[in-house]
Amino acid sequence: MKNHTPHAATAAAGKTRDAFSSSFGVLAATLGSAVGLGNIWKFPYVTGANGGAGFLVIYLLATLLVGLPVMISEIMLGRKAKSDAVTTLRTLAPAGQPWWLIGAFGVVAAFLIMAFYTEVAAWVFAYVFKALRGDILSSSPAVTSAAFKGLISDPVQSLLWQWGVLLLIGGILLFGVAKGIEAVTKKLMPLLFVLLLVIGARSLTLPGAAQGLSFLFTPDWSKISGEVVLVAMGLAFFKLSIGMGTMITYGSYFRDDQNIPATTLRVMSADLFVSMLAGIAIFPAVFSFGFQPGAGPALLFITIPAVFASMPFGHVFMVLFFVLAAVAATGAMLSLLEVPVSVMVGRFGISRARATLLNLLLLGLIGSSCALSNSVLADVKLFGMTFFDLFDYLTSNVLLPLGGIFICLFVAWVWGKQKMMEALSNHGVLDNGKIVKGLHGLLKLVTPLLILLVMFKGLGLI
Ligand code: TRP
Repeated sequence: MKNHTPHAATAAAGKTRDAFSSSFGVLAATLGSAVGLGNIWKFPYVTGANGGAGFLVIYLLATLLVGLPVMISEIMLGRKAKSDAVTTLRTLAPAGQPWWLIGAFGVVAAFLIMAFYTEVAAWVFAYVFKALRGDILSSSPAVTSAAFKGLISDPVQSLLWQWGVLLLIGGILLFGVAKGIEAVTKKLMPLLFVLLLVIGARSLTLPGAAQGLSFLFTPDWSKISGEVVLVAMGLAFFKLSIGMGTMITYGSYFRDDQNIPATTLRVMSADLFVSMLAGIAIFPAVFSFGFQPGAGPALLFITIPAVFASMPFGHVFMVLFFVLAAVAATGAMLSLLEVPVSVMVGRFGISRARATLLNLLLLGLIGSSCALSNSVLADVKLFGMTFFDLFDYLTSNVLLPLGGIFICLFVAWVWGKQKMMEALSNHGVLDNGKIVKGLHGLLKLVTPLLILLVMFKGLGLI
């Protein structure tokens, strides 16, 4: 009997476990997790600050050699165990070995990421309204900069928008996996692509657009250093939502007949496509109106509004752009919050509603440290960084890569090739033998070593 259905490890209290209901749903939800502020906010400013095309090449390599193997591994483990990130590693590891700590650290990482992510999302949601009202419709960066500083230095507004975002995400999660996450992302993802194509077309047809394209596609290698490579790899982890159990959790909602490597490749390519389109929507316009690309995190909130205000029909495109960013952020936040929610349900047996509420309360508290990082807490610094910057740095450059290393080691050395073969061929149904061989080779040594080297070099340890 080769193609029997693997026994579900949990199936809590005999009930069927909530899961994604269709192939398109799997794709929409997983892509919804990958595509986010990472594409629309981080990718453009990080690429801009690190010299454009050269950085892009390194990022691409990191995605293929590190991102892809780790992402396939996580989804595979989750689908096998059909439970939350902690329980998955607990069930699949030999008794007594503490591999479940990967899941536990994942929960910590989820909170730290959500803490600053919800604040950036808060600005984005606030900007949708500001753009609608025409408040930020000025082609002078001095004016848009004052508007942005006004928003982030106001503790009340920062907190209220953040809590509003949290309530929205919690509200969707209450509906569960199929009726909440899947239903919402199925609607949002197509909308995202339409918006992106419209805005990209607008930007490309502006005079002087070619300069932006050459910035994005002509490498300047002199800008590449150990630190830059670490940033590129950290971005790849962040972009693909890996290294902390999000993909283990989503993998546990995958259908048993889903071709995991093929789906992962599709998600990765679509995510890359969205990042490129975001770059194409932003840089030509930035250059066309004579702005600077390396503006850092403020690019999205200071430069972009000024760029839109400079172009014909800019008001409309500005609204569309921030709606696009809000849509992208929503799918990603759903997947981040789902990690601790599912762990609480799976480990402590509390209801989904309670788990969601509890996590909202916790995040309201932890997140406020980031919401206030530009006002009351601006002078509170650890390692020279505000809470906001620290959580961002710590997760992308330390926690996610570390999680990635241990996932590779667990899959290649503890779980082993035979089980990988069974899981990725759907018990002999799919012909994924070559992929498994290559993957196992990467996971055993190449990928974990690469991650370690880049981490050490980037952190200045070697
Ligand atoms: N990938 C998302 C983005 O690009 C962010 C995200 C969602 C994430 N879930 C994650 C990042 C898990 C790291 C880990 O915006």
